[in-house]
Amino acid sequence: MSTLPRTVIAIDGPAASGKSSTSQWVAERLGFLHVDSGSLYRALTAALLRTGRPPDRWTSGSMVAEGARIALRPEQTSFTALVDGRPAEEEIRGSAVTEHVSQVARVPEVRAWVNARVREAAVEHDVVVDGRDMGTAVFPDASLKIFLVADPWERARRRLTQRLGRRPTDDEIAGETDLIVQRDAKDATQTVQAKDAVLLDTTYLTQAEQVERIVALARAVSHRPGVT
Ligand code: C5P
Repeated sequence: MSTLPRTVIAIDGPAASGKSSTSQWVAERLGFLHVDSGSLYRALTAALLRTGRPPDRWTSGSMVAEGARIALRPEQTSFTALVDGRPAEEEIRGSAVTEHVSQVARVPEVRAWVNARVREAAVEHDVVVDGRDMGTAVFPDASLKIFLVADPWERARRRLTQRLGRRPTDDEIAGETDLIVQRDAKDATQTVQAKDAVLLDTTYLTQAEQVERIVALARAVSHRPGVT
């Protein structure tokens, strides 16, 4: 195991703010690995749903026990969350998991478990980590912290365009905006902007522009003496 100090870029923000895709792209540009902390909360929720036990009977003990079925596997440019030894991307992004994940993520023992997995991933790799509290609870000493925000309507529009592969109607966007605002409320306590984070409002930026700005900031901090 390497003892070299690793570089951590922490990208936080609310649901559908583009954290994961932006983080993945930034990681590829810098030759880092991307860690999506939300994928761990989602994978654990999928494992709990697979037990068939009703969600109102999930206890903190059962949540932590099911954590043994989840692993983070390093690939070329990112870590993949495995459930029972296999990737489960479609399942963990599905509506059943999305509906119950905030309930799981609210449990302190689960948060401690996810945070430990994410820190382990950063021991051997330079990483771009994304989530809600990476720059505060998990990596308070990250080299660079970004907090991404965007107008809820714009977040809904982007999410639907990606999901449907076409231009969404205004009614569709309005419905998705409601869901996003509800999830923001459910996740409010765990979504924390670090005092030293750079706030980036992406409402009027393209994804390529967001990536350029973060890569430029990462290069600037890496040239600052004393910063690893
Ligand atoms: O980022 P994503 O929307 O995939 O995250 C799924 C859920 O995991 C969020 O709605 C939130 O409840 C939880 N989460 C969290 N803290 C993180 C990352 C995700 O509470 N660092």
